[in-house]
Amino acid sequence: MRDLVEEELRGPSVIRDAAKLAFDYVPDELPGREAEERQLVQLFKGLLSGATSQHVHLTGPVGAGKTALAKRFCKDFAEAAKKRDVSVQWVHINGRKRTSASAVLIGVLAELYGDFPDRGFSVDEMLKSLHKKLEPQGTRLLLILDEVDVLLKRSGSDLVYLLTRFNEEANLAQHGVSLILISQGDVRPYLDDASASTLKLTHHLPLKAYDQPGMQAIAHQRVELAFHPGTVPEEVEELVADIAAESGSARRVIELLEGAGLAADGERSRRVSAEHVRAAKADVESVVTEQQLRALDLHRKLALVGIARALRDTAYVVTGDAERAYHIACEERGEEPRGHTQFWTYLKDLEGSGLIDAKRSGKGHAGSTTIISLHDIPGRALEEKLLKLLR
Ligand SMILES: Nc1ncnc2c1ncn2[C@@H]1O[C@H](COP(=O)(O)OP(=O)(O)O)[C@@H](O)[C@H]1O
Ligand SMILES: [Mg+2]
Repeated sequence: MRDLVEEELRGPSVIRDAAKLAFDYVPDELPGREAEERQLVQLFKGLLSGATSQHVHLTGPVGAGKTALAKRFCKDFAEAAKKRDVSVQWVHINGRKRTSASAVLIGVLAELYGDFPDRGFSVDEMLKSLHKKLEPQGTRLLLILDEVDVLLKRSGSDLVYLLTRFNEEANLAQHGVSLILISQGDVRPYLDDASASTLKLTHHLPLKAYDQPGMQAIAHQRVELAFHPGTVPEEVEELVADIAAESGSARRVIELLEGAGLAADGERSRRVSAEHVRAAKADVESVVTEQQLRALDLHRKLALVGIARALRDTAYVVTGDAERAYHIACEERGEEPRGHTQFWTYLKDLEGSGLIDAKRSGKGHAGSTTIISLHDIPGRALEEKLLKLLR
């Protein structure tokens, strides 16, 4: 038998370092979150000059970089503390996975001790173990409680209360626990009065979803980190950013880049193209249904054939090129092309039904023009579907 595994493994790849596309990989720098990281440093800098605890609440929609920012900050801050001979340690706990006070404490202690029995200790005993661990070096623990809303909903705010009280019990000691709470929305409704007042959720850092330029900066960084130089053209980064900006989640950037990279490898292509991105997107959510296409009248179908063809080798076309391609598609079928104004209404309709995307572009063109793209399906696949329907 042919050694197909070896063949595939030895094939070229556009991806240089797949680990940089893992979800939990946190890059050294987070483009677009510099201001927020600075704010965290300002907020926590007291820990390096005597303060033992400080709390913050990060909120924002899925994929806004809450987890990445919290981890990045903790790593950088612990390193800066080390230089100043202050012991800062950090632990990340997911409230969706650890939904009770004792499960969270077991997670924290396991991380700090390297090994901790996962049963057999009461919450009180575990808090004592925590004191014991932090006291000798006056360690400030930064505890990221991610998706804390889930934890609070399931088991109330006891833990938050216990941990904030923990610092008071430490008395004049030099150690303490700082909480970095993360949730999509407000958590105050889940806190009882005692925890709400001890926590004094005055420090709230809201993160907005990234916009298109923000997504493009993230895409560019990931490409540099994970792909071989020169394999991903800028227009591909731009297309990835457009699609990701629709959902507002930076996670989409990474999914799309990975999917597109694999699609390129599958074709033994040395370059990632817009078609690979569309294929990656269509893979996860094939939104363009045959039904939708069938519902289009003849000239709207022909306009879309033209657009699909024009987009085979490029991420974007200007409307003039799309219109020319529409004319050719008409000629092939012996149809008289409709006029310019009519073509514009086709574009509007196709955009309205989500079959194409249109945006204004200033860059690279004289003035501002409308440029068209496909997000949901590779141009080739769309053209084939349409031609089948037109037959
Ligand atoms: N500013 C950024 N720069 C680089 N990568 C980012 C940035 N923001 C988010 N990411 C990446 O996007 C993905 C989603 O971010 P994440 O922090 O998990 O979002 P959230 O926790 O808000 O849902 C992660 O893989 C993360 O590394
Ligand atoms: Mg998260």
